[in-house]
Amino acid sequence: MSDNQFGTDGHLRHLLTLAEFPRKTITGILDRAEQFQFQLGQANPQYDLLAGTTVINLFFEPSTRTRTSFELAARRLGAQVVTLDMAFSSTTKGESLVDTLYTLESMNTQLFVVRHPAAGVLEEMARHALPHVHIVNAGEAHISHPTQGLLDVLTIRRHKNNLENLSVAIVGDIRHSRVARSALHALTAMGTRDIRLAGPSEFLPNDLPGEKFTNLDKALEDADVIMMLRIQKERMQTDLIPDQHEYTRRYGLNNTRLKLAKTDALVMHPGPMNRGVEITSEIADGPRSVIREQVTNGVAVRMAVMAELMGK
Ligand code: CP
Repeated sequence: MSDNQFGTDGHLRHLLTLAEFPRKTITGILDRAEQFQFQLGQANPQYDLLAGTTVINLFFEPSTRTRTSFELAARRLGAQVVTLDMAFSSTTKGESLVDTLYTLESMNTQLFVVRHPAAGVLEEMARHALPHVHIVNAGEAHISHPTQGLLDVLTIRRHKNNLENLSVAIVGDIRHSRVARSALHALTAMGTRDIRLAGPSEFLPNDLPGEKFTNLDKALEDADVIMMLRIQKERMQTDLIPDQHEYTRRYGLNNTRLKLAKTDALVMHPGPMNRGVEITSEIADGPRSVIREQVTNGVAVRMAVMAELMGK
């Protein structure tokens, strides 16, 4: 766990990682997120918990879900939100991230949501932030994506209640996946005992807990939850990228394979999906898929995280 995450009073100060994160804090965030749930097609509830708060989104990598949901979450809580286009920020002129933080803090910003391709940058920002300023990790290299981990366990909890006795298979390019790491951290904190990591051996790092499977069919046997991942081509050298046809044959989720899991198994994917590669459209859009629900839950979880950080 990061030393910087909790204040001396035990309150969550920054959200940097879910590694060794207290179960009580996760449960509190999930319970709060349940209160922020909204119905698709209905008017969005508006809160004033973050009235007078300024939130700045700094995304140094592409994002559709995380960036938009953080922005919507902050607005629905009544905050003022600025999403900086990093391609046009002064970081392109050599300004460091810490100087960027100092500059934006000087405009009385209280909360920064940051996605960055380099490991350790979030910790560095948290170390330099003013005492009243909060840093939220929106995706750090292949290391950590804590709000994704939280929305994943919220989605599972809404269907399965108790996470301890579930068998969860995480499938695909685990080596390069911050989503897999944060899901592992969140599931471990919630007491899930049977976590299976499946993929080609070059995508299964030894330093992660969980039973490893190079045979996907075995990993899917009686699984309650199947979490599919895309191949993170942007994080690997071209010679590591597997042959797509062969990868799909061995590790793609299709209807035949889905029958190996429990009849009520959930199919998850953090997105973006590569349909026809790691998952068929039939399954992604089928009755067992909770992929769009994950996106919906992401807004509520990010509202809960920001409210918790701001002590509301
Ligand atoms: N799951 C996720 O982080 O998606 P984006 O890259 O679109 O934010």
